[in-house]
Amino acid sequence: MKEINVAMIGQGFMGRSHSNAWSQVAKFFEPPIHPVMHTVFGQPAEKPELFAKKWGWRNAATDWESLVRSPAIGLVDIVTPNFMHSPPARAAIAAGKPVSCEKPIAGTLDEAREMAQAAKKAGVKTAVWFCYRRCPAVALAHQMVKAGEIGDIRHVRAHYLQDWADESVPLVWRFDKSLAGSGAHGDLNAHIIDLIRFVTGQEIAEICGSIAETFIKQRKKMTGGSGGGIGGTQEGSDEMGEVTVDDAVLFLARLSGGAIGSFEAARQATGNQNRNFFEINGTKGAIKFDFERMNELEYYDARSQRRTQGWTTIMCTHGSDHPYVANWWPDAHLIGYEHTFTNQAYDFLLDIAGKTPVVPVPTFEDGYQTQRVLEAALLSAEERRFINLDDVT
Ligand SMILES: NC(=O)c1ccc[n+]([C@@H]2O[C@H](COP(=O)([O-])OP(=O)(O)OC[C@H]3O[C@@H](n4cnc5c(N)ncnc54)[C@H](O)[C@@H]3O)[C@@H](O)[C@H]2O)c1
Repeated sequence: MKEINVAMIGQGFMGRSHSNAWSQVAKFFEPPIHPVMHTVFGQPAEKPELFAKKWGWRNAATDWESLVRSPAIGLVDIVTPNFMHSPPARAAIAAGKPVSCEKPIAGTLDEAREMAQAAKKAGVKTAVWFCYRRCPAVALAHQMVKAGEIGDIRHVRAHYLQDWADESVPLVWRFDKSLAGSGAHGDLNAHIIDLIRFVTGQEIAEICGSIAETFIKQRKKMTGGSGGGIGGTQEGSDEMGEVTVDDAVLFLARLSGGAIGSFEAARQATGNQNRNFFEINGTKGAIKFDFERMNELEYYDARSQRRTQGWTTIMCTHGSDHPYVANWWPDAHLIGYEHTFTNQAYDFLLDIAGKTPVVPVPTFEDGYQTQRVLEAALLSAEERRFINLDDVT
């Protein structure tokens, strides 16, 4: 059996979800290469040896540079805050190793471009964890559009809305531009930009106006530096610090295939806890997805007879018809958030082995294309003008 030793850099929220994926993938799928959970990197204060023991890593390390270079390591997986994506990714590429990295691919467009170019030049396999591509319902949407079942796409509307970031949440790294790059924008719009690129097969060609807003301009500083977590579980001190990222970004866009679209990311959209949503309207039909009901895809067939026409809820839980499902539970037994990561681990292992993934793996080039759109939307908001994507490279 072929194996690959994985080093994971970081051990927060995504560290847990990726550990789960690496430990599950060869139990539910039959990947051509089996991942060995070799070493996890964490900062000394995080006690990586305890994390390693709990999550099944054989070793723990506190020096990521020598870990990435180590000849024992075959695959590098990066789950640190955005400013800490490029250094380990570039080191892995320089060592000729496959590398997977959390989204957004980087904190800045320059870093994203350098990562994509370096990977292309070195010819290494790369992946960005745009995990929502691997909800069976989203993978089905991709397949339906590709098969022409929706027809020519006219409209896309996508939003990713959360509501966790009220005043009580302290200045975690997600509110610091030097660590995160941007706020809700890079965190949430990155996902829906990738989803729309993936499902429609179209690029975003022009940003036709954008609004970026920061409602809460100061937050309590973290007691021990700029800590992690999404919020809620973190303690702040009495001292206040500046928020340097957006709370919400909205923009309008033209797509390369003629569609027009709207995008919105927000962290204070009360009542929306994790509403990652898109609707796509084509000449033959329409589809809708909402992550809060992630096992379902809504489909409207514009060709069916008017008398009984309407939205159909497809429960995407049938192994013989829906991507990834056959490898999980018997038909109609629902799956959740963590499964999308395991599905992605499987596809990346297929890709590394030179085999075709279930649906395409987002590469560093895809991460860079998404980062161009993020950058263009911020530019549009700042300069109050339309931005042609050809001018943002
Ligand atoms: N795909 C998704 O659905 C999803 C969800 C959440 C987060 N993310 C992405 O995952 C990444 C990590 O987010 P998270 O929620 O796991 O964050 P987190 O704060 O929970 O964990 C971050 C980890 O990185 C470590 N770290 C922080 N600063 C570091 C430094 N200077 N050097 C080395 N290590 C450092 C932390 O100690 C911690 O182990 C981000 O890029 C984020 O955008 C993706």
